[in-house]
Amino acid sequence: MPIIYDAALKTLSLHTQNTTYQMLIGDTGHLFHLYFGRRVDAASLAYRIIPSDRGFSPNPFEARYHREISLDTLPQEYPGANSGDFRVPALDLIGESGAVGTDLRYLRHEIRAGKYALSGLPAAFAEAGEAETLSVTLGDAATGLEVELLYGVFEAADMLTRAAIIRNTGTSAVTLDRVASLCLDIPFGKWELLHLHGRHCMERNAERVPLMRGIQTVSSRRGASSHHHNPFVAIVAPSATETRGECFGILPLYSGNHRTDIEVDQTDSVRVVSGINPDTFSWYLKPGDSFFAPEAALCFTDGGLGDLSIRLHRFIRRHIIRSPWKDRRRPVLINSWEAMLFDFDSERLLRFAKQASALGVGMMVLDDGWFGARNSDLEGLGDWTPNAAKLPGGLRPLSDAVHALGMKFGLWIEPEMVNELSALYAAHPDWALTVPGRNPAFGRNQLVLDMGRGEVVEHLFTVFSALLRDGGIDYIKWDMNRNMTDVYSCALPPERQREASHRYMLGVYDLLDRLTTAFPEVLFEGCAGGGGRFDAGMLYYTPQIWCSDDTDAIERIAIQQGTSVAYPVSAMGAHVSVCPNQQTGRSVPFGVRGIVAMSGTFGYELDPAQLTEDERQMIRVQIDRFHRWYDVIQCGDCHRLTELEDPGDFTAWEFVTPDKSRALLNVVTVHTRANHPGAHVRLRGLDPMGMYRIDEVCCEGCVNPSMDAPLDGAALEGRVLSGASLMYAGFTLPPLMGDYPGAQVSFVRVGPDGGIL
Ligand code: DGJ
Repeated sequence: MPIIYDAALKTLSLHTQNTTYQMLIGDTGHLFHLYFGRRVDAASLAYRIIPSDRGFSPNPFEARYHREISLDTLPQEYPGANSGDFRVPALDLIGESGAVGTDLRYLRHEIRAGKYALSGLPAAFAEAGEAETLSVTLGDAATGLEVELLYGVFEAADMLTRAAIIRNTGTSAVTLDRVASLCLDIPFGKWELLHLHGRHCMERNAERVPLMRGIQTVSSRRGASSHHHNPFVAIVAPSATETRGECFGILPLYSGNHRTDIEVDQTDSVRVVSGINPDTFSWYLKPGDSFFAPEAALCFTDGGLGDLSIRLHRFIRRHIIRSPWKDRRRPVLINSWEAMLFDFDSERLLRFAKQASALGVGMMVLDDGWFGARNSDLEGLGDWTPNAAKLPGGLRPLSDAVHALGMKFGLWIEPEMVNELSALYAAHPDWALTVPGRNPAFGRNQLVLDMGRGEVVEHLFTVFSALLRDGGIDYIKWDMNRNMTDVYSCALPPERQREASHRYMLGVYDLLDRLTTAFPEVLFEGCAGGGGRFDAGMLYYTPQIWCSDDTDAIERIAIQQGTSVAYPVSAMGAHVSVCPNQQTGRSVPFGVRGIVAMSGTFGYELDPAQLTEDERQMIRVQIDRFHRWYDVIQCGDCHRLTELEDPGDFTAWEFVTPDKSRALLNVVTVHTRANHPGAHVRLRGLDPMGMYRIDEVCCEGCVNPSMDAPLDGAALEGRVLSGASLMYAGFTLPPLMGDYPGAQVSFVRVGPDGGIL
């Protein structure tokens, strides 16, 4: 039974295959948190929390003669403010009287089959029998509010989800100032924070820091989950490595302003509070109204960061991404952006498509510049009719011609934005977010549409559904190229202005929901100037997201490895582009660019006409390899074989099919050194008793100083090694020379007769 209520002990326990989460309904009605960690089937773990009297830590009214009972020191499930806990609250509000805070007490609970859903918000889902829901309702007597805490228990997936619904069952309005998705108190132990930070063209680099006493925060106020601070965080034991150690993962399903506070309190207990960023939020809740806090997924493992990542990847692929494309083979694409920016017409595009098709590319994506007066980023956003000079006759003749080549046709859009120079802005200046009386800040010459307004979403739905109906479009790249400033909605009264950022996100989700539901066959890719909105909320609607505008393969290794801490490879948009690279000026061998890009949703961002015949031939070879290894890469588990923050001279990662029958090792040297012993790695995820044949060795780099002797793959191919040898004794590649050499080695499990199993 995944959810157990013990009426005598007043405990509620959530069990997944390998973890237990337990809470206690206290004598005062407060809901205390007892434990989250490796599975223990004890009915009560209350013994591990020893209440003790601490000065300046107040006692609830009913326990005022028990000075050891304090909300300030006991671990809690969903702490309020101004009622005895001075740590970061999960819920904060101000009532009509001006009274601040809440004192939440248990009212009732319910255990339900299946997974709860959240109206208007992305939320993990489950098939029958895959999940159960625990709903615990707390009440605040002073305001009459009810807070429903929701727990989704995915037993086999070893994951929990949490969300909260605030219902105003009182008689007067309240203003919610903070509504967290979850609070997780970790009362014992020493911990570090692993977070994914960055900037435009350098998203999601992993950083691990010791927790200091006090509060540290991971947050965005940019109106998007951001390039700068991804909402995912992990709390990890200092000794945790890729293969062992305790780790908690917290994965918000939210794409707007988020904040996770991690507080180390007076007793070194760690509190994690995650949800909508309260800095830019409030919500006016009238009697009878409800507010839904976005969901966050939660997991624990003592198997190290690698195990944490694999759990999250599987969960995202199975329970968060809802597009039918998640299980379909996605085409290798070529995108026009780095190849031609705004400078194209249908003739050039068709040439581009023909050349790409001859190399085996399956889809042509027409990026920015196809609509309105869009010849630069100065104008046109908002006017979603094809530019007649570039595309005479519109999109259809082009998409028909591309389809006739046997390719799919994809299109770039940026629905949430408008240029000042556009017909849309001329007709509806009030649809853009601007503060009355103040000139707005611009970003990439554009303003942000007020997506919180129903008529804006309605207009965009009409425009884009017509385009999708008539344009012969198989794929959409949904971009967002600036962050939000001047957040003020003409449609909201003064007391609701701080709702605008969250209403914006609800509008974006609404539009995504309507378009993806109306056009389930269309493959959607998210994008925000690269990976500025790469989060689990967006993945609910778009099965893949463009990882970064930095296509330099060496930079991409750090970006994609960091991204892989939480997000699966099948979600990472990654393309081969030309060298010297447009973002860094660095040159990396074509083959290595392929190794890195095919560790994602593979594609190209270049003009085949500008390549040498050798390079064109390499494209054919890469596409052929990607197709042959598709299931291993896209449906397998991804293991990071080198440490995230300090990989050393080379970075290595491996894909293994769920049945352990095939594996693919990838190695890229980022720092070539003289006299090197060669890249030695221990593979993971194989069957130790199984025998694996080295099937194919593809090498980019040389083994001698005159740079004329590529690694002799044939000498390695065909060799049979046991899974135990490969995992415990390891595998060594000869030292490779040159700039950024790399290799791919594929393994296949064979039977005693050498045949593939
Ligand atoms: C930012 C995206 O990340 C790029 O790939 C490209 O689509 C440009 N926007 C187009 O404006």
